[in-house]
Order: sequence, then C-alpha cells, then structure tokens
Amino acid sequence: MIIGVPKEIKNNESRVSAIPGVVQELVLDGHTVYVERGAGVASGISDSEYEAVGAVLLDSAEEVWGKADVIYKVKEPLKSEYKYFREGLVIYTYLHLAAEPELTKAMIDSKVVGIAFETVQVGRGLPLLRPMSEVAGRMAVQEGARFLTKPNGGKGILLPGVPGVNVGNVVVVGAGVAGTAAAKIAVGMGAKVTILDVNLDRLTELSHIFGRDVETLYSNKFNIANSVKNADLVISTVLIPGAKAPKLITKDMVKEMEEGSVIVDVAIDQGGSTEYTENRATTHSEPIFVEEGVLHYSVANIPGAVASTSSYALCNATSRYIRSIAKFGVKEALVRHPELVPGVNVANGKVTYKAVAEDLGYEYVAVEEAL
Ligand SMILES: NC(=O)c1ccc[n+]([C@@H]2O[C@H](COP(=O)([O-])OP(=O)(O)OC[C@H]3O[C@@H](n4cnc5c(N)ncnc54)[C@H](O)[C@@H]3O)[C@@H](O)[C@H]2O)c1
Repeated sequence: MIIGVPKEIKNNESRVSAIPGVVQELVLDGHTVYVERGAGVASGISDSEYEAVGAVLLDSAEEVWGKADVIYKVKEPLKSEYKYFREGLVIYTYLHLAAEPELTKAMIDSKVVGIAFETVQVGRGLPLLRPMSEVAGRMAVQEGARFLTKPNGGKGILLPGVPGVNVGNVVVVGAGVAGTAAAKIAVGMGAKVTILDVNLDRLTELSHIFGRDVETLYSNKFNIANSVKNADLVISTVLIPGAKAPKLITKDMVKEMEEGSVIVDVAIDQGGSTEYTENRATTHSEPIFVEEGVLHYSVANIPGAVASTSSYALCNATSRYIRSIAKFGVKEALVRHPELVPGVNVANGKVTYKAVAEDLGYEYVAVEEAL
C-alpha cells in the first residue's frame, strides 16, 4: 500500500499526522510512505528524520496526493485540496463533515472513502478525538486566561486571584474529555470552577474526582444562563457525536455577561455551540471577535498551536488503524476493528454516517452497503 502524508495547510496548523516511529513501522510492514517535504518541521521533525526511517520525501502536495492509495493527515481537506480527490482514494483524517457541506459534496461527487478520526467509536468513547480534546481543554483555560488580560482586550482578571481579592469564575459546559481537562487546569490555577452536563453519571464521577474544587450542575437553559451571567471565562465543550453542536449559549445570555469576559467555544469544529460563534470559526492569527463586549475565541484547530505535543499525542492514537488499513485494506480493517465502522463518513458517493446525513440532508446508507 502507498501512504501519503501531506503537509497541513490550514491557518497555523503545525501538526503532522505521522511521526517517524510510525513511519518506520509502516515501512517495516512493507509499505511505501511518501511524506511531503517540510511536513513535520513545525512539529520539530526534520525531513532527514523521516528519511532515516525509510520515508520517501516528495516536493509537492500534488505528488503526495497523486501517488497515494491512502492519505493520512490531520485536518479536513481544504478547498485547494479537493482537486486531488478521486474514486477509491482513502482519506483518513479529522473531517467534521456536519459543519462542512462543501467538503462533503466534493467527497461524495469524487467517490472517495472518508474515514473521520472524530467518529471512530469504542462504546461511548471517541479514542481518536480524545487526545486532541485533552489538549484543547487544557489550552482553552490557557488561552482564556490570556484574553482576560487588559492588553488583550479582556476585563483584567487574574484567574487565581491574590490574597484578599476574588478568584476568577470559570464555567465549563460539557463534562467530557475536553471539559474535564479544562476543569482540571482551571482548578490547578486556583479559579472557582462550575461544570455543567446532561449526563448525571459523568457529573457524579467528577464530583468524586474533584470534590469541593468543582461545582457540578445539571445542564439546562436555566442553569446555563445563571452560570454564564457571572462567569469571567466560559468554556463550551459540548458534543453530540458527529452532529452539529447545539447552540446552548444564546445571544441573550451573552448580553448579561460583563464586558471583557471571555467565551472559548471548543465545540466550534462541530459548527459552534453558541449563537454568536455559529459557523464563525476563527484562526490562531486572529483568534478573537467581540460581541456585546464579550471576547469570543472560536479557533477550530486549537491543538495546532502546540504541535510538538499534539502530533505525538494524535499519532499515538491513530497509528494502529493506519497500519491495519495499510495491511488489510479498508473492508478487512473494518471487520478487524468494528470501532472503525462509524469512522467511515462517506464512501463510494454515499453518506455513511447518520448524523452527517441528517444534518446535511443526504440519504443515509450503511457502510457495508456503500463499500
Ligand atoms: N476546537 C478545537 O480545536 C477542538 C479540539 C479537540 C476537540 N474539539 C471538540 O470539542 C468538543 C468536545 O469533545 P470531547 O472529546 O470533550 O467530547 P465528549 O463526548 O468527551 O464530551 C462532550 C460532553 O458534552 C456533553 N453534552 C451533550 N449535550 C449537552 C448539553 N446539552 N449540555 C451540556 N453538556 C452536554 C456530553 O454529555 C459529554 O459529556 C467536540 O466538538 C470536539 O470535536 C475541538
């Protein structure tokens, strides 16, 4: 099998899908791995490190996409990459199709097979989303703290406070992987932390883990509105797997917040979970927009900013499936790893993931039927 590792081209996206240790395994398995020259540099991995483990370096994205049977990347293909799509090409990456109607259409029209990291599912867990949610949750507090400072447009709040002065008030919506990581860092910084979720089992677990350090609240409109009103930093991490994020933080709620407060919408990659961030993703070069005096941070590739950590964390999770796909082909890999089946979002011109089909108005076809 021929595996292609293109350089990521999204704004300030510094991650790379394959780290040298995994390229070496693929090469030892008997495959050819083409890496675009410079693909790993922003993650601290030089071209020569790839060459040393047997990768073949190519000068252009066109060559990598053109030669590969399987494209192994990080972020969803951008418009300039759609021209490389062709029937039968397998693209293994984050896709977030519910928020990407044009990309979905291009993938359907070209009959590629799209395997989305974010919908590979083991029980209720999303093992290929998990490492990046761990990063994004932690970064959400770091970035939130940065934009609460006056020079960055915030209200001038130091989250840990100082003796004799109130600590900052952090509200986290969604108590999954990213939400828990955010709560952990916010508690570590000494802030007052409230976390909301509709999953009572999860809230119970968190109250056991954090004790009095975190207040848990059932998530409904009333509780969200009351919490958000007094928050210095709101971090939204809600997810309904594969579907568009619900708009839990309304414009009316934002109006009630103090000027200079910050909202970090981690769920932006699923279309955004606040009314103001809906389909309004920002970038690492311009991460913020302001509405009602409140700073909104809606960067869709937060982990891209800490690429050296993120590339390794992501590849640790994704590599077992690229090895299996390369060794056995997609169909056999799906039999060997049933958790990969929900990862297939489009195949052979059909939408094979229910939530994407429903959100974007396509007919849903089961993976087994489409392949
Ligand atoms: N912006 C980025 O760079 C970036 C990076 C990584 C992950 N993400 C995104 O972060 C989001 C969260 O990922 P995760 O791995 O933490 O997911 P997760 O499934 O672990 O957690 C999501 C949580 O949301 C909860 N939830 C569902 N409906 C809710 C509601 N109405 N109110 C409150 N909570 C509700 C669920 O019960 C669950 O606990 C996803 O959209 C993911 O794609 C974004």
